[in-house]
Amino acid sequence: MTLRKPPIVATLLLVAGIAAAGLLAQTAPLPNRSGSLKFAAMGDNGTGDRAQYEVAQQMATMHAVFPFDLVIMLGDNMYGGQSASDYVKKFEQPYAPLLAAGVKFQASIGNHDRPDQVSYKLYNMNGQRYYTYVRNNVRFFALDSNRMDRKQLEWIEAALSGAREDWKICYFHHPLYSNATRHGSSIDLRVLLEPLFIKYGVNVVFSGHDHVYERIKPQKGIYYFVSGAAGQLREGNVASSDQTATAFDRDRSFMVVEIDGSDMFFQAISRTGQTVDSGVIRRQPRTTSE
Ligand SMILES: [Fe+2]
Repeated sequence: MTLRKPPIVATLLLVAGIAAAGLLAQTAPLPNRSGSLKFAAMGDNGTGDRAQYEVAQQMATMHAVFPFDLVIMLGDNMYGGQSASDYVKKFEQPYAPLLAAGVKFQASIGNHDRPDQVSYKLYNMNGQRYYTYVRNNVRFFALDSNRMDRKQLEWIEAALSGAREDWKICYFHHPLYSNATRHGSSIDLRVLLEPLFIKYGVNVVFSGHDHVYERIKPQKGIYYFVSGAAGQLREGNVASSDQTATAFDRDRSFMVVEIDGSDMFFQAISRTGQTVDSGVIRRQPRTTSE
């Protein structure tokens, strides 16, 4: 009896074909529709080191094909010195192509950021530690997780309850959910904010602080992302848990996001241009404030 050998060459070609198809699919996970809201997200970026510049270059490369006009900054916008020359070296220079293209940066502040960053024109905070703004059918809330005092909590509640946009997106530095071992979840902050997020129907939350990328499975109906590796990196730091949808802690990264109607498409991209996560979130049905 003669056993037929598997057609190795054909099998390899098939595998290669599938891999190529997967790669092609990965290069365009965002629909890139005209009129949709397109933005990028980055955290823990401002080191002034080469790696920050390399991530910034990938952002510019992405911008050329996916013309986002907003970058949400998740805090630790600058490490070390924060003099005028540092603003040039750690922000204006690496992101010069985006700034020249008219991309607007909207910052939140992290634990390494000096309080006077709120007055830096190109962070568009208008002197406020926390603030809100609208793009298309989305209301963004940039919060200050360094100091979550009663005044800010009252402001958040009033701002959330008054929002009438389809989407409510909050961002701030310290993550409510994280499985990185360096910092992990900010439980004290979660106790304060999560009830408000649930009550007023926040859809998605972005944070940084842990120098990794992690997508958390929906927690009490809310999606959480940690994107804190646009300059810094804590390699191998994620200890995935049941909460982890996916994580990437091998290199630096940033995110691009597209919201069109009830869909939010997202893509996480590494320093070398690799897509390390992508997907789509359908806007959660809400019963409150709608
Ligand atoms: Fe931080």
